[in-house]
Amino acid sequence: MGIQITPSMLSADFANLQSEAARIAGADWLHVDVMDNHFVPNLTLGAPVIEALAKVAAQPIDAHLMIDNPDRWAPSFVEAGAGSVTFHVEAAAAPVRLAREIRALGARASMALRPATPIEPYEDLLPELDMILVMTVEPGFGGQAFLDMCLPKIRRARTLIDKHGGDIWLQVDGGVSLDTIERCAEAGADVFVAGSAVFGAEDPDRMVAELRAQAGGTGH
Ligand code: DX5
Ligand code: ZN
Repeated sequence: MGIQITPSMLSADFANLQSEAARIAGADWLHVDVMDNHFVPNLTLGAPVIEALAKVAAQPIDAHLMIDNPDRWAPSFVEAGAGSVTFHVEAAAAPVRLAREIRALGARASMALRPATPIEPYEDLLPELDMILVMTVEPGFGGQAFLDMCLPKIRRARTLIDKHGGDIWLQVDGGVSLDTIERCAEAGADVFVAGSAVFGAEDPDRMVAELRAQAGGTGH
């Protein structure tokens, strides 16, 4: 799999999610941010909204769960139609069981790390996962500044993934724009979330193409 762009619907018009998805026809996935006002200090949406969007959108749904107790809630997002479900390892009680359950229900299983969470303790989990999400802002809000301090962790995650040899995608989320995406790609990321950069652009679909080109300019 090459470079993938997954625009965050957090920066889209929540009253018009169907038409907002149609405005980014070139996107590989729709990244949907689920926040519970416990794991992060913000509250967004849940499985019923994802279920409605999954029915009308051409792109598959990449659900990013910024919630406590993902062990309890993540399976319902697969049942709602998400093709990929990301849980935060800081919140998961039993990440191996949870990743296996997500896969058994038919979705890609993904594990997210907050900026201060290291990847190394989770090396043995890699065979259980289809994607690692390295957060490049503290999760909770769109439009924050990219944290360069996360770049070494992207590099270390890429090294571990290559060592493991599996086909695990490496996603970055937070502050990704035309200014920062090359740094992420150079460090080894291949799946790029961008919210404000895409939906703040005059032509969001053109921005998706520009981000893709900018990320493809450097390989790993
Ligand atoms: C933040 C979310 C992100 C957010 C990214 O906690 O996980 O997906 O929408 O927004 P930007 O691209 O504006 O930083
Ligand atoms: Zn996100």
